Amino acid sequence: MPLDIDRLRADTPGCEHVLHFNNAGAGLMPQPVLDALQGHIVHESLIGGYEAHHAAKESYDDTYAAIAELIGAKPDEIALVENATRAWDQVFYGMPFKRGDRIITAHASYASNYLAMLQQKKRYGIEIDVIGNDEHGQVDITELEASITERTRLICLTHIPTNGGLINPAQEVGRIARKHDVPYLLDACQSAGQTDINVERIQCDFLSSTGRKYLRGPRGTGFLYVRTEALDLIEPPFLDLHAAEWVGRNTYKMAPGAKRFENWEGFVAGKIALGSAVRYLLELGPDDVYARIAEIAALLRSRLSHIDGITVHDLGLRKGGIVTFSHDKTDVRRIKIALDQAGMNTNLAVPKWARLDAEARGLPTMIRASVHAYNTEEEVEAFTEAVRRIAA
Ligand SMILES: Cc1ncc(COP(=O)(O)O)c(C=O)c1O
Repeated sequence: MPLDIDRLRADTPGCEHVLHFNNAGAGLMPQPVLDALQGHIVHESLIGGYEAHHAAKESYDDTYAAIAELIGAKPDEIALVENATRAWDQVFYGMPFKRGDRIITAHASYASNYLAMLQQKKRYGIEIDVIGNDEHGQVDITELEASITERTRLICLTHIPTNGGLINPAQEVGRIARKHDVPYLLDACQSAGQTDINVERIQCDFLSSTGRKYLRGPRGTGFLYVRTEALDLIEPPFLDLHAAEWVGRNTYKMAPGAKRFENWEGFVAGKIALGSAVRYLLELGPDDVYARIAEIAALLRSRLSHIDGITVHDLGLRKGGIVTFSHDKTDVRRIKIALDQAGMNTNLAVPKWARLDAEARGLPTMIRASVHAYNTEEEVEAFTEAVRRIAA
């Protein structure tokens, strides 16, 4: 059954108010997610926060099951945290680095992740090997394999960058990581919900993501996947009485599974609503959603590339839903403000958010227009016309 776009839009209250091409910022929540979120908060106000949590145990637990189903993991390999950065940090800051250890990353690296690498470099004297792009703009697999040494402790790949349509070949990287027995941390913040992710096929040991973007969950939610066999490779950087048990005056025992990467207090309503968002996607049929996103983005790229003065900057053999462009004369900030005023949501992609890529390609500040399955061909036409008019 092809996706019913009218139904998708009817399910999404925001579609009546805005043309939303900022799904890589935060997707518009569908009604079931809104209901779950509001319903739980109202319940908390009526019967008490702890009591409401207890009463919602089934839906709360289902969030782990739904995420696990989406990415091909087991529920106890999932930790629910507040955002993608914290999920990623749990792994990165949990690695027992020593001076001279090396980590591998690529041009698509996100600023927050790279900042953490720089901090650990300063603290422990680790070295960062940045792999270049192949002729398609994806991470160069041959160079990556050749860069592995006996001191390589971790491969950190960004699946889809903050600043473009590129989908990095995560599975190829996983094959190499497994072959050389190097732990593999995949940043799936921009990819979860817009492209296929199966941790068994990808062979990553760790995967981090956020809830608010292509999964269309609420802000302030995220998750971490930790392969059961990889649990002992890292020690959570923070422990609390949920992540570990104080079993003797001087001893503690870590919680089983990925829960050791969580902490006790959290955004319960958000976590429940994230589960609804993932269930919503599973019910629609993830492959249809992913195909639709790629199709609408391809249409947008093609339309924009026909406007005088516009350059579309997206790389990759396979491209996803993020479209980035600049204009050779008109300041993109001016274009963005005019689009805002027309009720058309986008974001700017600023070079320092993905500095390795921006410097290698000499990228300017760009407009990032990121589409979802509920966006339409008519919206693409209206948006393109608006850009043409504003930039003229
Ligand atoms: C590639 C990538 N990784 C990580 C993040 C951080 O996600 P969060 O804001 O949920 O911490 C972002 C945010 O835009 C991103 O684009």
